[in-house]
Amino acid sequence: MSGNKRKIVVLISGRGSNMVAIAESIDAGRIPDAEISLVLSDKPEAPGIEIAKKRSLKTCVLHARSPSTGLKLKRREYDEGLTTLLGSHKVDLICLAGFMRILSPWFVDQFPNQILNIHPSLLPAFTGEDAHRDVIAYGAKVSGCTVHLVDEQVDHGPVVVQKSVPVLEGDTKDTLASRVLQQEHVAYTEAINMVLSGDYHVVGRRKFVKR
Ligand code: GRF
Repeated sequence: MSGNKRKIVVLISGRGSNMVAIAESIDAGRIPDAEISLVLSDKPEAPGIEIAKKRSLKTCVLHARSPSTGLKLKRREYDEGLTTLLGSHKVDLICLAGFMRILSPWFVDQFPNQILNIHPSLLPAFTGEDAHRDVIAYGAKVSGCTVHLVDEQVDHGPVVVQKSVPVLEGDTKDTLASRVLQQEHVAYTEAINMVLSGDYHVVGRRKFVKR
């Protein structure tokens, strides 16, 4: 690993396909001068952790339960542990990629405009954990994905990149999810490049490219 590369930490809870897409973009030079310095999961069983190890990425599991008491940690307790852990790394960007924990406002304040999240809908429509189900049930004809800066509210911060896909007759949650996922992988790379470039400013909710 080179000391000059921008360090990206990816937080996951599941299969990690967005993490892999980011890693592939770095390897292919689509995200230049960057590296994934850590893949962290709150769930030891997350398949993405094994996949990251196979790619020789540094991995870590930060359990959601206290190792001493077995009790579920409060949000702020978990986030303090996470901040301590990240404090031992240089972090330029934190990418939430299927990380199924809500981060506290306190944590978000530690990393202003340095946390990205991806959500599988065109925000502000269809927030929440089952966006594809909700899109289909609503009868929407267009869906997609959103990469946004993380603020103190869930699925809310300034939009960095959105990609749309059609919702087709006969779509199931799974068929729609796989069409959206292809776009997620493209969108995350674009968003990371925009944010790492530093060539933008945020006014209210709106992110502008500097001229
Ligand atoms: C993606 O659909 C992402 O939008 C959502 O969780 C899913 C994670 O998928 N936040 P993966 O673990 O990156 O494959």
